[in-house]
Amino acid sequence: MPRGCISLLSMKTNPPTCAYRDGHYVLPPLPYDAADLEPLLDKQTVLLHHDKHHAAYVTGANEAVDILRRVQTGELDPAAAPDATSRLAFNLGGHILHCLYWESITPEDGEQPMGELLDAINRSFCSVEGFRRVFRSVTLAIQGSGWGVLGVDSASGLLRVFGICRHQDVLIPGFLPILACDVWEHAYYLRYHNKRADYIDSFLKHIDWFHSHQRLTSNYHES
Ligand SMILES: [Fe+2]
Repeated sequence: MPRGCISLLSMKTNPPTCAYRDGHYVLPPLPYDAADLEPLLDKQTVLLHHDKHHAAYVTGANEAVDILRRVQTGELDPAAAPDATSRLAFNLGGHILHCLYWESITPEDGEQPMGELLDAINRSFCSVEGFRRVFRSVTLAIQGSGWGVLGVDSASGLLRVFGICRHQDVLIPGFLPILACDVWEHAYYLRYHNKRADYIDSFLKHIDWFHSHQRLTSNYHES
């Protein structure tokens, strides 16, 4: 793969706890107790989200990979491959983004970006407030289910915000996400009901900038 070009599939090693072992994707444990995210999120939402929804994407990704292996060995007709790759993109995208999501939020309130990450935000958005304005607007405007994502555009070296529909639509080559906000309704509906804006505002107060900084300084520079 060309230097700086990071595809969806190559991202499997980038989110630190996005596990893949012995030929299978693995659901990582939450990096905190499910009850610790109050008041951002309630324990029931976090447990359902992690144990059911995220887990289903891990299962779906493994099932898709199994079909592709059976196509490769001749056990299944090659006609099964296109649908399997489509299922893999959806489910693996869900797995990777959820791994990123769990480490994008913290029980702490009001952490601020520092050091190299703060410099990158100021270079890219003029200020932290500029980032918040763009991120809030883009994430709020996602139609249906998707993600607001902050990441590095490898062509310019600047940070960009994108909205991702479902788990895999509108991902550009060479874009390395370092922060993700899940706006599928399962992420917030029990606590915030239809008030996605309130959830996003709360998310923005509980960003784990430490992990985003780690991704910026280690993963991106290694790509
Ligand atoms: Fe989710």
